[in-house]
Amino acid sequence: MSSEKIIIAIDGFSSSGKSTMARRLANTIGYRYIDSGAMYRAVTLYAMRHGMIGAGGSVDSAALIAALPDIHIDFKVEGDGQVTMLNGEPVEKEIRSLEVSSHVSPVAAIPEVRHALVKMQREMGESKGIVMDGRDIGTVVFPAAEMKVFCNAAPERRAQRRFKELSEKGAEVSYEEILANVNERDLIDMTRKESPLRQADDAVLLDNSEMSLDEQNDWLMNLYDSITGAKA
Ligand code: DC
Repeated sequence: MSSEKIIIAIDGFSSSGKSTMARRLANTIGYRYIDSGAMYRAVTLYAMRHGMIGAGGSVDSAALIAALPDIHIDFKVEGDGQVTMLNGEPVEKEIRSLEVSSHVSPVAAIPEVRHALVKMQREMGESKGIVMDGRDIGTVVFPAAEMKVFCNAAPERRAQRRFKELSEKGAEVSYEEILANVNERDLIDMTRKESPLRQADDAVLLDNSEMSLDEQNDWLMNLYDSITGAKA
């Protein structure tokens, strides 16, 4: 097996199952896992807490851009998972709320926000041995990543998964609300000017609409093995 560590970029639509898959792969192969979406969510939570999001959902981007140097995001490893830290405070639960989900896309469309987070993400990948998931990891953050996957599933399947996940956590949300949020985020993510969501030319497509979690994990592990020559 090659002992050279690589960079693994997993991009795709919201709730396409990429985080679960990416985290599992990182744990199996002993890599660091970074959920870049959590970083955009943490910036959004900061904006909400500091009154930078208006009643109609508009973002005071000038105020947010000015505050960027005061926003520090990190991850604390806890067991098999990790906790997103915003200026030293654990915010893992808050950033998963539907409220944050419904404000995050316009925040993630602000070029200055993206530049600041992309810089942090590149620093995290400096010594390789990293699995990062998001929307622009294979296209912008690490265009030279050795392994790139682009994940998709039908919007209804993704909404079902999100609904199950949030209901299990006790959140009071409806399936229709979540499906509307999934569709709205897809549209904003794909049509924004700055690094829109798209499949990198050299990414391998995975449509997991009809796949179980185990099937996805096996598929990903096989791809990793074939790229690193682990089972050559
Ligand atoms: O993967 P997620 O649903 O937690 O991502 C939250 C939002 O952040 C999503 O609407 C798109 C944005 N995002 C992004 O623009 N670029 C990334 N690399 C990761 C997430």
